Amino acid sequence: MATLAGKILVVDDDSNLLEVLRMRLESANYEVVTALSGEVAIEEARQQSFDLSIIDLQLGNRDGISLMKDIHQISPDIPVIILTAYGSIESAVEAIKKGAYSYLTKPFDPRELLLQIEKALENRRLSSEINRLKGLIEEKYDFANIVAKSEKMQSILGNISIIAKADSTVYINGESGTGKELIARAIHLGSDRKDKPFVAINCAAIPETLLESELFGYEKGAFTGAMQSSKGLFTQAHKGTLFLDEIGNMPFSLQKKSLRVLQERQFYPLGSSKPIDIDVRIIVATNQDLKNEVKEGRFREDLFYRIHVIPINLPPLRERKEDIPSLVEHFFNEFNEKMKKKVKGLTPAAMQKLMLYNWPGNIRELKNTIEFAIAMTRHDVITEDLILQSTNQTHEKLQSLKEAKADFEKNYIVHLMELTGGNISKASELAGKYRADFYNLIKKYDLKPETFKK
Ligand SMILES: Nc1ncnc2c1ncn2[C@@H]1O[C@H](COP(=O)(O)OP(=O)(O)OP(=O)(O)O)[C@@H](O)[C@H]1O
Ligand SMILES: [Mg+2]
Repeated sequence: MATLAGKILVVDDDSNLLEVLRMRLESANYEVVTALSGEVAIEEARQQSFDLSIIDLQLGNRDGISLMKDIHQISPDIPVIILTAYGSIESAVEAIKKGAYSYLTKPFDPRELLLQIEKALENRRLSSEINRLKGLIEEKYDFANIVAKSEKMQSILGNISIIAKADSTVYINGESGTGKELIARAIHLGSDRKDKPFVAINCAAIPETLLESELFGYEKGAFTGAMQSSKGLFTQAHKGTLFLDEIGNMPFSLQKKSLRVLQERQFYPLGSSKPIDIDVRIIVATNQDLKNEVKEGRFREDLFYRIHVIPINLPPLRERKEDIPSLVEHFFNEFNEKMKKKVKGLTPAAMQKLMLYNWPGNIRELKNTIEFAIAMTRHDVITEDLILQSTNQTHEKLQSLKEAKADFEKNYIVHLMELTGGNISKASELAGKYRADFYNLIKKYDLKPETFKK
């Protein structure tokens, strides 16, 4: 008979029966740990993990059902077979209701016991397999709402499933509307913390005076108006993920306190002397060049290095226009469903307009554009007149030759200055210009050599 070997905890207050069970089970290839009392059983269950437990219903000073409950507190998915004396069917049924896998009436046929054990273990193996498959499906689903056709986005998405499993701090950088929050949520959903809270806070949207109490919470009476104590977002995110959006806008004063929390994973709510320990994964996002903010003294360097652990740079939409058609299709599906419409697509001219535009507001702007067009159209295709784009850039403005030359010249000089760390002599030499002429160009474009110093 092929047995699934496994580790079994047997609990009975009858030492003779325990020994008989041990012999039978061991000869069927199982590893056996025995316990004469509930206390010993619980101790064992705490110390090692078991695949199954066999528990006598009447255990001297306590009953088997309550012991089973305690063991399930420790490891919820361990199958339990209850042994009952002849004539106590009612309690056996009770045991099943409370979560036992099955019961056997004493005296029992040893073959019957082995059969039950095998079935229970097989059952457990199947359900863990089902959970694993469910996890796979969920994982797929989590990324399914992220459109990523371009090579740039493909490689980012490829990394995300790996990043998700690591527990390190993630630093997402990208212009407004590039999908920073979407990616942050996907990382959370792809992580082992997915069943715990994802708490997002926008550091730019909350007034400086409130941000500290929002983040760390406060004790009753910590300040005027604190009528009741309040849990901060750090506490709410315990065991889960805390998303600090627009972290570049965090007031300087709070940066120091946040740094300490990130280092020690412990903090004091306002007005409290009792420290709180937290276990959170941190994801931060910013649309600023934080290195520059550090240089300018607006962002603490030590905090920057603490959060800049796994960087993800989301490219602006204009640098991945290949994504536009798929994004458009994605948003068509979304808004058709929401508005109960059946708009099929765009005319070629409308599509071209989308492809030529520069999308300063990135994907959010594209999404709004499609939402507007689908809401307004009276036909089943979108015509170009419905593709309204924001501000002055309705048609991609063609630069004059003079403007284009100036743009190039400026970029070229910036590049040289970066290369040489702001050394004008070296830069002018590389450009094949006299130092004085080069200096005039720097002035013309209002560049400051000292900002390029390394
Ligand atoms: N790759 C993508 N696939 C599908 N939808 C996307 C994608 N990227 C962004 N979106 C959608 O675009 C909108 C803007 O994304 P999100 O809010 O994540 O951007 P953000 O970078 O956080 O913007 P902001 O800096 O303005 O806060 C959201 O509705 C999001 O679902
Ligand atoms: Mg955002």
